[in-house]
Amino acid sequence: MLFQLIKKDKHCAARLGLITTSRGEIPTPIFMPVATHGAMKPLTPAQIEETGARIILSNTYHLHLQPGEGLVKKAGGLHKFMSWDKPILTDSGGFQVFSLPNKRITEDGVFFKHEVTGEEIYLDPASATRIQQDLGADIIMAFDECIPYPCDKAYAEQSTKKTIRWLKECRNAMTDNGQALFGIVQGSVYEDLRAMCAREMRKLDLPGYAIGGVSVGEGLELLKKVVGWTAPHLPENKPRYLMGVGLPEDILESVERGVDMFDCVIPTRYARSATLFTRRGKIRLTNKNYKRDFFPIDPSCDCYTCRHFTRAYLHHLFVANEVLSAILSALHNIHFYLTMMAEIREAIANDRFMEYKGRFLGEYLGNER
Ligand code: GUN
Ligand code: ZN
Repeated sequence: MLFQLIKKDKHCAARLGLITTSRGEIPTPIFMPVATHGAMKPLTPAQIEETGARIILSNTYHLHLQPGEGLVKKAGGLHKFMSWDKPILTDSGGFQVFSLPNKRITEDGVFFKHEVTGEEIYLDPASATRIQQDLGADIIMAFDECIPYPCDKAYAEQSTKKTIRWLKECRNAMTDNGQALFGIVQGSVYEDLRAMCAREMRKLDLPGYAIGGVSVGEGLELLKKVVGWTAPHLPENKPRYLMGVGLPEDILESVERGVDMFDCVIPTRYARSATLFTRRGKIRLTNKNYKRDFFPIDPSCDCYTCRHFTRAYLHHLFVANEVLSAILSALHNIHFYLTMMAEIREAIANDRFMEYKGRFLGEYLGNER
């Protein structure tokens, strides 16, 4: 994996870049839709491709429990198993395991119970790395502790130091398969811990770095601060990935501060609960106002859903509980995110990111209801 920093916007820290992998190029800033179990509810890989997605995210935790990385490896790797030939990034399980109720965290790893069988399972930096290597991910995330919010500084400090030590263990566990390991900066909402963690991790000269431990209930103002405290300490010539973020406004604020990659379940999860993104804010299609609304979801959108269907039809599909409601909504929502990212890249290319952000948010939040 290779990252080229093409240019920076003259008026903020926003960056235009290009990631090159053996499975294709990824222009940045980019949004990665989430296929947790190796499937993106409720789309086929052909439909995912039609949204314009260049890279997707899957989860170590879920695939380890079911069907197991051994089976995926036997099937020829995750790309072949799920029939997706573009890049895949896998998260390490650090986030999922730490949000479980019954877990035991030690200095070396985490014990937890299998959701279905109750069997005790153990994950640590070496095993999380090996699982992701067996899955065949193009980008592998380090095994980290995602610190909950709020968190006192003493805990945050010892946890962040552990995450730094675990990163070294992940790197030592990597065998050379052409896969790229990204470190994850923690440090909670403490400026000195974020800076310390970023500085320690950059010494390892990894192919990329993530900012973790955000979107845990801290809110947009603290998110902006955390990104602002972390990004300047990361190397310029490596991609920066903000994990689990977010809403369009969160992405815009973070691009302004120098983030290149994002992932979030919001576009697909919201699609299933009838919430669709438009230039003028989110709309809730089950609302009875849409029963006789014969306009597309967003008249300015050129996705498959908007070219062929009306709000009234989608309203009907949701009321009738038809599977097609989720498919058409997910196609639109992912297309909405990816179109925004393409516009962001064009704006940075022209040193107009701040103008673009202002215009987008004016229209989007001005009408939020
Ligand atoms: N997804 C969202 N936040 C995090 C994080 O802090 N760590 C990991 N591994 N995954 C995440
Ligand atoms: Zn659309």
